Amino acid sequence: MIVKDPSKKVIPLPRRDGLGDAGETSRQRKTHARVIAITSGKGGVGKTNIVANLGFAFSNLGKKVLVLDADLGLGNMDVLLGIAPKFNISHVIRGEKSIADILEKGPGKMRILPASSGIQELTHLTNDQKVQFLTDLDRLIDDVDILLIDTAAGISTNVMDFNVMAHEIVVVVSPEPTSITDAYALMKVLSLKYAEKSCKLLVNMVASAREGEDVFRQLVLVTDRFLDIHIDYLGSVLYDDKVTRGVKRQRLVSDLYPDSKASRCFMDLARRMAMTKPSSRPKGNTNFFWHHLVRTTPM
Ligand SMILES: Nc1ncnc2c1ncn2[C@@H]1O[C@H](COP(=O)(O)OP(=O)(O)O)[C@@H](O)[C@H]1O
Ligand SMILES: [Mg+2]
Repeated sequence: MIVKDPSKKVIPLPRRDGLGDAGETSRQRKTHARVIAITSGKGGVGKTNIVANLGFAFSNLGKKVLVLDADLGLGNMDVLLGIAPKFNISHVIRGEKSIADILEKGPGKMRILPASSGIQELTHLTNDQKVQFLTDLDRLIDDVDILLIDTAAGISTNVMDFNVMAHEIVVVVSPEPTSITDAYALMKVLSLKYAEKSCKLLVNMVASAREGEDVFRQLVLVTDRFLDIHIDYLGSVLYDDKVTRGVKRQRLVSDLYPDSKASRCFMDLARRMAMTKPSSRPKGNTNFFWHHLVRTTPM
């Protein structure tokens, strides 16, 4: 384990609105980025598309956005964006590159931290590797307004580690019953094993806003009864063939078809999220992550 004791470090609390202040110099700016994890119980619900399009929308609102592809074993953010990174997180984990070295430019000035695909070791990192990686990441995110984390699906420790380090956990579901039950399973683990008290729900691929609200009500009916976790409804994204058309061309729907149904949903979502205040808990940095590891790891 790393010997440094982060409890002796001052934990920089995030700004209440989570955004950088244009008037501050970089020396004065001691705050961290607003860290948002996008996660799901079931795969294929649209996380990667949501992260990329939301990141694009945030950068169109003038925010400095960093996207972390945290689907460490099967990352495909680069494929979605049509970029071919030379290096990825596996090089950082092996100590060959720093995070700053592997950053890629994405559409709309977003910066992308690419994951690797097909490297199984990355799906079970040691605690030393995780702490080292997150310490490196922590330094870098001082310079961004929003860090969006695209996690893998499911309830593995790797996924949960990224979720608990975020200020906001956005659980994505589609209106399919299997996706809803898997979201419940994820929330159960978040609540019982990681003592998370709240998360947000985003319903993707809905036929109407009403359908999204129905899914939310259905889920809350069960979580309110059985779990000690509060779910905020973030909204929904309409089903739109243009998303898949964009994926096939390796271009974002928001970039290619800015007036499409889905693109309008992403822009609307980003605007509303930019206006809401994130939690002021001391999360979103590796200090928090360290304490989490110490709590959960037999020394
Ligand atoms: N709002 C949407 N409307 C139509 N298709 C969508 C929408 N969101 C995602 N998709 C499709 O769903 C598939 C899975 O999306 P992806 O972002 O890769 O999911 P995940 O990252 O959760 O596995 C993609 O082929 C994408 O085209
Ligand atoms: Mg994905």
